[in-house]
Amino acid sequence: MERYVITVTIFCAVITRISCCDIVKLTFPSGFKIGTASAAYQVEGAWNISDKGENIWDHWTHNHPEYIRDGRNGDVACNSYYKYKEDVALIKSIGFDFYRFSVSWSRVLPTGFTNVISEDGLQYYKNLTAELVANGIEPVVTIYHWDHPQVIEEMGGWTNELIVDWFVAYARVLFEALGGSVKRWITMNEPNSFCTDGYEDTVNAPGKVITGIGKYLCAHNVLKAHAKTYRMYDEEFRDAQGGKLGIVLPIITYLPYNSSYTEAAEVAFQFVTGWLAHPLYFGDYPEIMKTRVALVSKSQGYPRSRLPEFSDEWIAIINGTNDYFGFNHYTSRLVYDDPDEELGIYNSDNGLIVTVDPSWPLGGSTWFYIYAAGFGELFRQIRDEYSNPPVWVMENGISDADGVDDYDRINYFYEYVREMLIAIKRDGCNVEGYAVWSIMDNFEWSAGYTERFGITYVEFDDADTNRTAKLSQTWWTKVLSKRKLQSVPTSTYTRTRLPWQK
Ligand SMILES: *[C@@H]1O[C@H](CO)[C@@H](O)[C@H](O)[C@H]1NC(C)=O
Ligand SMILES: *[C@@H]1O[C@H](CO)[C@@H](O)[C@H](O)[C@H]1NC(C)=O
Ligand SMILES: *[C@@H]1O[C@H](CO)[C@@H](O)[C@H](O)[C@H]1NC(C)=O
Ligand SMILES: *[C@@H]1O[C@H](CO)[C@@H](O)[C@H](O)[C@H]1NC(C)=O
Ligand SMILES: *[C@@H]1O[C@H](CO)[C@@H](O)[C@H](O)[C@H]1NC(C)=O
Repeated sequence: MERYVITVTIFCAVITRISCCDIVKLTFPSGFKIGTASAAYQVEGAWNISDKGENIWDHWTHNHPEYIRDGRNGDVACNSYYKYKEDVALIKSIGFDFYRFSVSWSRVLPTGFTNVISEDGLQYYKNLTAELVANGIEPVVTIYHWDHPQVIEEMGGWTNELIVDWFVAYARVLFEALGGSVKRWITMNEPNSFCTDGYEDTVNAPGKVITGIGKYLCAHNVLKAHAKTYRMYDEEFRDAQGGKLGIVLPIITYLPYNSSYTEAAEVAFQFVTGWLAHPLYFGDYPEIMKTRVALVSKSQGYPRSRLPEFSDEWIAIINGTNDYFGFNHYTSRLVYDDPDEELGIYNSDNGLIVTVDPSWPLGGSTWFYIYAAGFGELFRQIRDEYSNPPVWVMENGISDADGVDDYDRINYFYEYVREMLIAIKRDGCNVEGYAVWSIMDNFEWSAGYTERFGITYVEFDDADTNRTAKLSQTWWTKVLSKRKLQSVPTSTYTRTRLPWQK
């Protein structure tokens, strides 16, 4: 017996040296939360029911269908406004710990302001929250996921600083109504995306092209609105409700094109993640951003930097207002220094060229390249940059064009989640939660219904919007019941180029 034990021990020691995966065993740490996510405009439908007001996505898709690949909109989407009980039953049957959903501002406040609070609108979110709690699923609520009231956009939207107080008033209504049950809040989803794609491009609503200025102004007001909401929660709700508040950033991992460009990758990190996160953790924008945007602005003849400045008062309000580090991650990029800079030509504020490794397999979206190691690297970057904060992955997943036999999706989840588990167990990254995007196929913004991110298939061409399990849903059900990654049915990607992938 003695001898047997010794043999086993030696055998295990040899095994563990073989690879990191044996060390981590691919089990989830105890207490780790696994959930799934959606967003109001992408799933709810019922766009004009009861007294709901028009939001910027209603307005954008109705007035500019030419900016949506299939010309469609979220009027019906997944019908989740009517099917929320079915949605919750589905989430429960798969075994998720939490459900991240967002609230539609104009459904709750039809005029945009608190003078009118929609009874039906608020009741919908109360119902959904109660249904989740009754089924043992933790509600995680995004206050703003890209769809502010159109009337607020008529006044400049995120480029008007008055939105700070309007947002705080809206958030207060939600804390009052749902804060008894909701203990994890997300103020805004992906400001970098909606500020850049909505205020410097026609990719997202409101589609205003204010080049070089729109995104910075938008993010400046986003940070103020986030921080004021956080301080208001501290003063009015935290003692009684004891929840956590954070912002969720969209993070692409930037890696050096080759070993000559480690500095370039660091600059890219600061320009994308640091832009929003540095103020929350250190009070102000990263130095490199302040210096570079000032330099390029000057070369363009502007009297001052296009990057706005925070007063000392605002720095004190914003500094330290993220209870956890929330982010969404899908893909990676390679960066190198723009050679034109040596000729004194500034093609961009960050002075970088962004590219990909041609060997990376494709997802189903124009921007989607698969590189799981980039996900692992991101946890280590966040650990090192922000003193290992508690981390929540609030979206991770992959798109395809159609079908329920989604082997590529299972592959993606396996490879990416394995990287996360290695970052946790081998590298000590403080990751507490992970959300699968998405519980079901839904309205994919400017791609309409041509790209599917769900682990559940939705029949958008039928009024019943029926849901069907994909193989990845079955796979997640098994992973959740064992709390351990399960082997993959196939280990190579099969995706071919889609018409919108040049
Ligand atoms: C709501 O919008 C639909 C189109 O999505 C339209 O058919 C219907 O008449 C509208 N209902 C009301 C009450 O305006
Ligand atoms: C909320 O639930 C109640 C009770 O089941 C139901 O009568 C009501 O229609 C629901 N409201 C919404 C907006 O879902
Ligand atoms: C990195 O790439 C650049 C541009 O192709 C090249 O000039 C440089 O020599 C490379 N450096 C290394 C260390 O490979
Ligand atoms: C931000 O807060 C941290 C921690 O309290 C503090 O050390 C730092 O000095 C603050 N930064 C600024 C710019 O006030
Ligand atoms: C959708 O599902 C319902 C309930 O199972 C069923 O009665 C209906 O026929 C289905 N619709 C379609 C178009 O398959």
